[in-house]
Amino acid sequence: MTQERPSSGKRIYLQEVCPRDGLQNEAVFVATEDKIALIDRLSQCGFAKIEVTSFTSPKAIPALRDAEAVMKGIRRHPDVEYSVLVPNLRGAERAMACDIDEANLVMSASESHNLTNLRMAREASFSQLRQVISELRGSAVAINVSLSAAFGCPFEGDVAADTVMRFIDRFASQGVRGVTLCDTTGMAFPSQVASLCRAVKQHFPHLEITLHFHDTRGLALANTLAALEQGIDRFDASTGGLGGCPYAPGASGNVCTEDMVHMLALMGYQTKIDLPSLIGIARDLAPLIGHHIHGCIVRSGMRNDLHPVPESLEQNFRACVQTEGKI
Ligand code: COA
Ligand code: ZN
Repeated sequence: MTQERPSSGKRIYLQEVCPRDGLQNEAVFVATEDKIALIDRLSQCGFAKIEVTSFTSPKAIPALRDAEAVMKGIRRHPDVEYSVLVPNLRGAERAMACDIDEANLVMSASESHNLTNLRMAREASFSQLRQVISELRGSAVAINVSLSAAFGCPFEGDVAADTVMRFIDRFASQGVRGVTLCDTTGMAFPSQVASLCRAVKQHFPHLEITLHFHDTRGLALANTLAALEQGIDRFDASTGGLGGCPYAPGASGNVCTEDMVHMLALMGYQTKIDLPSLIGIARDLAPLIGHHIHGCIVRSGMRNDLHPVPESLEQNFRACVQTEGKI
């Protein structure tokens, strides 16, 4: 039976967020040189973009308090864009001193999550981010906006699609290059994803749209498929499935990069990711963070990593195969 590869080589852009979303949520502080070594290895894997760190308050996110040293210490690959998370003006000033390629501005689509995560109301965030955008305008730094809790909020429940569309519209009129729809606590489900992606693609055809899923409730790959069907071609993912927002109750890891790459490759999409190298990196994460990772491919192998037939059954098996060949 031939296997269906319906996507016929369509390019999908993968953006690795383990160094930021992944490490921000770990209890241990990963040493600066280990972070740099991790990012340097990831840089060799074929990612379109890597989110290196975040220029947030070191009190809010102590795990990334070495943002400057990491950003300045990495070896840059010419084909990779290096992005950093920026929550406010102070963060933008720090980031600009480190020669970043992209500032990923962050605010939440829900009021309560913005208040817990960024300690200000959404309008205060919007107004700071608008100032950041105006300061970056004309520089070589690209601007993306990540809208957290775009598919649901752990405090308020549903977030109206209209609210999300309104924030995208306001940022689009400020001239940002892209917007990321973040499912911060894994509340998204496929039909909801399809409907929001359809609306966003239709209303904002010129924006670079990224989808950012967490696998909190096991729906991240299903949501990825729903987004792909609407023509989305850019996804965040985290090696080893690390990740989560420390200011969102119940948050857990991002969609696992190696599992996503494995699925996309089976379907015939082109990600340019060197999967064996990535699996090697995922395997090496445990000693850095002090616990096992949850990725399926690292646990179970790739679909075509076959096992020998048990010795006791081998003769039997060969005889069956020969007989079948004669039929
Ligand atoms: N980088 C470093 N320090 C910062 C900073 C930044 N971007 N923004 C503020 N600070 C410092 C201030 O200088 C001040 O320092 P001081 O106490 O020594 O005077 C202190 O933090 C408080 O400043 P304030 O403006 O009152 O900030 P806040 O305490 O209200 O916190 C944020 C606001 C946005 C800085 C903080 O909530 C934050 O960093 N959140 C990020 C959350 C996050 O990354 N979540 C996961 C990703 S979605
Ligand atoms: Zn996230």
